[in-house]
Amino acid sequence: MSTCPVRIRHHTAGASQPKAIRMASPPVLENEDRTEVLDEPLFSTLDIILLSALLLTALWWLMRRNKHEEYTPITKSYSIQPTLLPAVNPSENSFIKKLKTSGRSLVVFYGSQTGTGEEFASRLAKEGIRYRMKGMVADPEECEMEELVHLKTIPNSLAVFCLATYGEGDPTDNAMEFVDWLKSGNADLNGLNYAVFGLGNKTYEHYNEVAIYVDHRLEQLGATRVFELGLGDDDANIEDDFITWKDKFWPVVCDFFGIEGASEDVSIRQYKLTEHVDLPADRIYTGEIARLHSFTNQRAPFDAKNPYLAPVKVNRELHGPTSSRSCMHIEFDIEGSKMRYETGDHLAVYPVNNSELVNKIGEKCGVDLDTVITLTNTDEESTKKHPFPCPTSYRTALTHYLDITSNPRTHILKELAEYCSDPNDKEKLKLMTSTTAEGKAAYQQWVVQENRNIVHILEDIPSLKPALDHLCELLPRLQCRYYSISSSPKLHPTTIHITAVVIEYKTPTGRINKGVTTSWLKEKHPTDPPSYVPIFVRKSQFRLPTRTSIPIIMVGPGTGIAPFRAFIQERDLARKEGKEVGDTVLYFGCRRANEDFLYKDELEEYVKNGTLVLHTAFSREQSQKVYVTHLLENNKDELWRIIGEQKGHIYVCGDAKNMARDVHNILLKVVMEKGKMSELDAADYIKKMDSQKRYSSDVWS
Ligand SMILES: Cc1cc2nc3c(=O)[nH]c(=O)nc-3n(C[C@H](O)[C@H](O)[C@H](O)COP(=O)(O)OP(=O)(O)OC[C@H]3O[C@@H](n4cnc5c(N)ncnc54)[C@H](O)[C@@H]3O)c2cc1C
Ligand SMILES: NC(=O)c1ccc[n+]([C@@H]2O[C@H](COP(=O)([O-])OP(=O)(O)OC[C@H]3O[C@@H](n4cnc5c(N)ncnc54)[C@H](OP(=O)(O)O)[C@@H]3O)[C@@H](O)[C@H]2O)c1
Ligand SMILES: Cc1cc2nc3c(=O)[nH]c(=O)nc-3n(C[C@H](O)[C@H](O)[C@H](O)COP(=O)(O)O)c2cc1C
Repeated sequence: MSTCPVRIRHHTAGASQPKAIRMASPPVLENEDRTEVLDEPLFSTLDIILLSALLLTALWWLMRRNKHEEYTPITKSYSIQPTLLPAVNPSENSFIKKLKTSGRSLVVFYGSQTGTGEEFASRLAKEGIRYRMKGMVADPEECEMEELVHLKTIPNSLAVFCLATYGEGDPTDNAMEFVDWLKSGNADLNGLNYAVFGLGNKTYEHYNEVAIYVDHRLEQLGATRVFELGLGDDDANIEDDFITWKDKFWPVVCDFFGIEGASEDVSIRQYKLTEHVDLPADRIYTGEIARLHSFTNQRAPFDAKNPYLAPVKVNRELHGPTSSRSCMHIEFDIEGSKMRYETGDHLAVYPVNNSELVNKIGEKCGVDLDTVITLTNTDEESTKKHPFPCPTSYRTALTHYLDITSNPRTHILKELAEYCSDPNDKEKLKLMTSTTAEGKAAYQQWVVQENRNIVHILEDIPSLKPALDHLCELLPRLQCRYYSISSSPKLHPTTIHITAVVIEYKTPTGRINKGVTTSWLKEKHPTDPPSYVPIFVRKSQFRLPTRTSIPIIMVGPGTGIAPFRAFIQERDLARKEGKEVGDTVLYFGCRRANEDFLYKDELEEYVKNGTLVLHTAFSREQSQKVYVTHLLENNKDELWRIIGEQKGHIYVCGDAKNMARDVHNILLKVVMEKGKMSELDAADYIKKMDSQKRYSSDVWS
């Protein structure tokens, strides 16, 4: 039972604006290194059986791989999964052999979840040819990375690493093993020439940690840094960071290897087009992620490669009639799918692009979108044979496989410029791709600030009429989107619920931009026959304490409430089953009580029945903003009682940029003030809470 008086608190005035003085707390999505503070026996019988099974599987795997005898995996994974999946047997992947047989000396490895790192790597490898360094892109997961010690056997060779950071300074899934190898091994990398470019985001505490680590570790192992570490910040302009770095990188590389002058910058197509005339329909991809016919012939297990087509069971508006926005409560039916999920997991959704935008591209390019094509890599050594599943129609490629709504990067504009029939249009595009201050400013203003996607660019550059197959080669892959699951499987084993705010905004050019996934989901309603959505569950480490008696504080303004709805459902069930349940405290914030108070009735019912203590902040109901952070500041005693005295857990979900950072700062203040600690000790205390899984975040920006 709750030991605290049950109440709803509405706070409306008197708080001052919080100041962000530190970096955001890391998004604690998954971390297998963590242990929870418990005073119950360490292992139950079930745990021992499971651990033994895991140990045996791990031993079998290690023996099978027979790769590193002393290798101890420190594997972690987190919430974003790559959608391009390796399809190669690693034992066949000697990158040294490939480099030698194809006369190359440059290899660019990438650590990427959502494709940016991979794209940067491709661009570098492609540019190598200009500097007489024929390049190859490589996925470390598909390579024997121990072979780095032999790269020096190729004259004038260079390894470049484009590496993104996730979670708590973790590598991407495909770079995990490589980073573990660097950490645990002591290979002699003397003679290896290298450079590193990192991809990160400054709103996360562990900014670019992977790249920083790899750059340092390679040097420690004897390798030669040819050019300084580059750091890209996705919160600012990662494209600018990359081209600025790249522009300085090449002259230094040329100097280092004694290469004189660059050849002309000519566009080289990566993929060859084949148009099919009479291909039988059953050989054509229609949006499947990997296996042909996987949408008509659904087979478990379902994952990133093989999503489940889930019928939409419920799609209900959560905002009140006076709200200018929309937030959806969606329930997906997973009955009979064998899909399982746990409270705190994420649901991945594969979206579909708006058909009007797709048609506009077809019109502007003057192409019949129903033409069936295959794009085949001209580089026979590449493991990536096609940029997306082929054969398929242009329509399917633009609808299911390609990202047509984000701001195109400069290399795309550079190649498109060649298709302008008006020299002024060509110059305009070319300027935006130049690395001069003027060029960068023009790109920043016209593409980024004015928020133009490829359709807008085709509309606003009248003489631009690119070859559609070339455009399809250049556009990045459409990525799945993640949603914090807002239901508990204990209550809802056959449905998965999400809480998604619809993205819609006006751009400076007066256009209305709509979020790809949320605007598509908005139209998905329970129908007969059902509307289907391709989904899969991504495991997380955002978990309730295993003992229900441990008190918890949840901070989740806006859609940040999503996982907490599931947490509360589970605690309510436990209470009704007669279990001892510690305090369950929620800090929820929204604009106005009658507009966007998500799940108001449900929450008030939990308050009434004694499951929940609810604190609400309605930010726009008075002249001064009131946020959940202000309430936390006013409730330092409650906070300290739960986290300091009762060793409870605190959870944060929602905005990574401001809110999570502010909550971290308040927590620090509370620990200093109520725990009577210095700032340093309080920071240590919070770090310890973090590693004990007593402070977890599920945040995004
Ligand atoms: C781990 C994780 C959990 C998440 N959980 C949830 C959740 O529970 N609920 C939820 O609603 N979302 C959640 N998200 C966010 C979600 O994944 C999507 O990013 C979101 O729904 C938008 O997707 P979309 O395809 O509709 O929009 P997109 O087409 O991806 O467009 C979004 C982009 O539009 C731009 N944009 C958005 N608003 C504006 C604006 N006002 N002005 C200018 N540009 C703008 C931004 O660049 C933004 O990245 C989560 C994200 C992560 C990583
Ligand atoms: N990348 C994406 O596509 C995407 C998609 C969905 C959400 N998001 C982000 O995720 C966050 C949550 O979105 P949402 O629409 O669910 O919530 P929301 O309605 O924008 O915000 C919920 C409440 O939080 C308040 N708030 C603003 N800044 C805060 C801070 N620093 N600390 C505490 N509270 C604060 C808001 O107040 P005011 O609005 O009155 O200031 C509002 O009352 C937003 O930051 C949004 O930008 C991003
Ligand atoms: C859920 C999530 C967690 C992230 N964590 C970090 C982080 O801890 N440190 C960091 O520097 N960047 C972090 N980032 C930013 C990414 O590294 C950055 O967006 C990068 O460009 C992604 O590259 P990719 O597209 O190749 O995966 C995170 C991004 C997301 C969506």
